[in-house]
Amino acid sequence: MTERDLPQDLPVRELIRSAMEARKKAYVPYSGYMVGAAALTSDLRIYTGCNIENASYTPTVCAERTAIFKAVSEGKRALKAVAVVGSPKGEEISQYSFPCGVCRQVMREFADPQTLVVIVARGEADYKLFRLSELLPESFGPENLR
Ligand code: THU
Repeated sequence: MTERDLPQDLPVRELIRSAMEARKKAYVPYSGYMVGAAALTSDLRIYTGCNIENASYTPTVCAERTAIFKAVSEGKRALKAVAVVGSPKGEEISQYSFPCGVCRQVMREFADPQTLVVIVARGEADYKLFRLSELLPESFGPENLR
């Protein structure tokens, strides 16, 4: 999607800043790859998260899911946007870090894929914008089970 299609009330820079701040808290003793995320809910509140790894590896949780589950556990089930920043520890954020497939599916659960905006950023003024439907086309979701 382009900047022109962006909803007016979307605080893109604040979301990126929040994700960058959350990234600093990443617990990544195994991969050394630090990710931060910020989820904007329909009431325009921001929930942040970082990735949290585990010695047993599989319990590791991504930054996006930390942020989204924090929102959901506070009763916020409608997402408007999610910003993501990631890069190896000790490095400048020099790459665009895309949400993994599992996190895309979790976003799908709590958003309309045609409207949810995913912001993949390297900095406050350096980002790419997507609708979830671009990152997860032809998806399976809650409506399938109703
Ligand atoms: N990671 C995320 O936090 N989000 C993603 O979307 C991709 C991967 C984390 C998980 C793990 O801690 C590290 O990055 C390396 O895979």
